[in-house]
Amino acid sequence: MSSKNLNRKRIAVIPGDGIGKEVIPQAVKVIEATGAAVELTDFDWGADRYLRDQTTVPPDGFAKLARDFDAILVGAFGDPRVKTNIHAKEILLGMRFKMDLYANVRPVRLLDANLCPLKGVEPKDVDFVVLRENTEGVYTDAGGVFKQGTPDEIAIQEDINTRKGVERIIRYAFEYCRTHPKLDGSPRSKVLMCDKSNAMTHAGGLWQRVFKDVSTEYPGLAAQHMYVDALCMQMVRDPRQFDVIVTNNMFGDIITDLAAALQGGLGMAASGNIHPGRTSMFEPVHGSAPPIAGNNQANPFGAILTAAMMLRHLEFAKEADRIEAAVLEAVREKKTTQDIGGSRGTREAGEWVVRKITT
Ligand code: NAI
Ligand code: MG
Repeated sequence: MSSKNLNRKRIAVIPGDGIGKEVIPQAVKVIEATGAAVELTDFDWGADRYLRDQTTVPPDGFAKLARDFDAILVGAFGDPRVKTNIHAKEILLGMRFKMDLYANVRPVRLLDANLCPLKGVEPKDVDFVVLRENTEGVYTDAGGVFKQGTPDEIAIQEDINTRKGVERIIRYAFEYCRTHPKLDGSPRSKVLMCDKSNAMTHAGGLWQRVFKDVSTEYPGLAAQHMYVDALCMQMVRDPRQFDVIVTNNMFGDIITDLAAALQGGLGMAASGNIHPGRTSMFEPVHGSAPPIAGNNQANPFGAILTAAMMLRHLEFAKEADRIEAAVLEAVREKKTTQDIGGSRGTREAGEWVVRKITT
């Protein structure tokens, strides 16, 4: 019998490198504080393990995750001692690509007006989501270098877009819009597809055609389009207009850093890597931040909000609500790390959230 049939949901925890090893333990404490019926199992994948025995992903690693776990909670990968970053690539991109986690879901929510660098923007003005295609595009590493090191050197980086890949992320966006209300309870109503089809006509043309086709299946939802450069400008000029944004792998990577800044920076941003019906992976948007790693300085709220997102995905909605409410309260009362205006350490900020949940 598969262990998935037991009552408790099984979660694989992979803190990884740098501040991942500091923020994930806080997220774990918070999950435990909610009393959700889960069983957590630690994995040591990351730079330390790689430097010790050259293992990035153990044989059967991804198959084991998919078979024995309901969800995966990840910190970050990247360590200055591993110059090639090979372990990060094999673990993180491996999970996304090999487990086919095609929807990278990045909610963008402003919890407190103080956290937004734009003036006059209130929490109700920023509540949108970016759905980033997660398995193709320019991140498949297709291409090559020819005549390397000579004046005639040529580098080709291919942009892979399949009908199947584009269609499933666009359909996911419409479904997400239909089924995920805003924080204030009001329904979502608009799906905006972002591309650069004026200059990248082949891939952009496919995205345009598929978006048009799929949108006809959702007559109740508005289908909109914006070029990625215009979207960057609009996100800063007026973030109120956005609801659900769907885009390719690279544009999604870039615009979500910009979007993270609207909600208080990388330390606040959560994400999920999802394939409906399969073991999905959840991670804060930030990286391993080597310069601040080990200083008890990193903001744990991105990881804690990621844990809430994971619990919601596992149908622990009440527990997720309690976590989000506690983080909101911490932000309002400035019981936070320095990056968002408080004076607490990583552990102390995490402990405040735990106490808020348990009392
Ligand atoms: P980063 O996200 O680690 O850091 C960018 C900036 O944000 C730094 O100034 C950092 O101090 C700050 N920051 C990030 N998270 C924070 C937090 N929780 N609290 C307070 N400040 C925070 O991105 P960077 O510097 O580009 O990359 C560092 C390493 O992380 C590299 O090895 C990179 O490859 C890796 N990386 C890994 C990712 C992942 O595992 N998903 C994503 C992005 C980068
Ligand atoms: Mg990025």
